[in-house]
Amino acid sequence: MTSVLFSPLDIGPVRVPNRVAIGPMCQYSANDGCASDWHTQMLMNYGMSGAGTAIMEATAVTREGRISLGCLGLYSDASEYALTRVLHAAKSVAMPGVKFGVQICHAGRKGSTHNNWSGGGPLGRHESGWRTVSSSAAPYADNWPAPAELEDAEILAIVDAYAMAAKRAARAGFDIVELHAAHGYLVHQFHSPICNKRPDRWGGDAEKRLRFPLAVADAIRDAVPEHVALGARITGTDYLDGGLTIEDGVRLAKELQARRFAYVCVSSGNIVHGGRPASGVGFNVPNAARVRAETGMVVRTGGLIAEANQAEEIVSAKGVDQIAIARAQLDDPRWGWRAAEKLGVKLELPPQYRRVSPGQWAGAKLVRPQA
Ligand SMILES: Cc1cc2nc3c(=O)[nH]c(=O)nc-3n(C[C@H](O)[C@H](O)[C@H](O)COP(=O)(O)O)c2cc1C
Repeated sequence: MTSVLFSPLDIGPVRVPNRVAIGPMCQYSANDGCASDWHTQMLMNYGMSGAGTAIMEATAVTREGRISLGCLGLYSDASEYALTRVLHAAKSVAMPGVKFGVQICHAGRKGSTHNNWSGGGPLGRHESGWRTVSSSAAPYADNWPAPAELEDAEILAIVDAYAMAAKRAARAGFDIVELHAAHGYLVHQFHSPICNKRPDRWGGDAEKRLRFPLAVADAIRDAVPEHVALGARITGTDYLDGGLTIEDGVRLAKELQARRFAYVCVSSGNIVHGGRPASGVGFNVPNAARVRAETGMVVRTGGLIAEANQAEEIVSAKGVDQIAIARAQLDDPRWGWRAAEKLGVKLELPPQYRRVSPGQWAGAKLVRPQA
């Protein structure tokens, strides 16, 4: 059988060997933005997982742009150096053709939080929290602190920080730089009318609410050399009356395309706490297909994709170029191997693994002691 999932894909200047991407996943394991041994093992595993593309977690463009104290950054020489070392290690073991990306982000009003396994709520007093900022002064959730409304000069400084982080990412050797413009983080906080209530040039109608996202897009376009693929994770819908819709998503995608962004990853929700009611396999797929149909851009999407045949169907028959898996990768760090086997594709395994054929140990799971 010929698998579309395991066929190569050109993403602007970058060719990936298959259409399985590992989506960005915060690991809350950095020290002052610097990647740790945890990231080294994680990215090395991603490189050997069978996925053709691996995107590092939301990585802060400033120290205050982190989500939690454990979030990764690209805002200092030390954090750039740490990530460079991780990437170097991952590339040294990666399967043929695997490409690595990093997602750059400013958390805005969703910053200064506990990490996810500690509940994810805002850091309290005496917990090393910091002043959060946003397009407007409304908090992310009722019991969260109100962010400060950013002033003009602060906005411009943050745009510069995105450019610097993108430059650092390219210098570190990443093949792909992904702007996080979704999930309720700062770019989304300017884009969405649910959050952005500004009366000045950074808020108002759809065009003005795009001013900050596009200022960031312009800045990182200038900062990143053409051999690096630029992309963005964007919002297909806020799921809220008066919020962003797929028309806004298409409009943003077109603007990014005009700036030679090579792809968008279409996601949804989270502009406010609990604002992600979607369910069902590939719930973002229809919006992603719409963006692709209207722009012709390379489009990726994710969301509850767990099985090889679901992924194959999405890329072969649902109008999307690439799928992203997140939790399925945590569940099975060799998801790509397993998916290839199910689809009858023979992956070239690293020689150290050749005495094991994928699937050989499937039965062993049955005799594992129950936890
Ligand atoms: C542990 C964890 C961390 C995540 N961190 C990020 C992130 O840094 N950036 C992002 O865009 N999405 C993040 N997400 C969302 C995932 O990339 C993905 O879109 C979402 O989990 C749905 O895909 P799934 O059903 O395959 O898990 C995270 C998800 C998980 C489970």
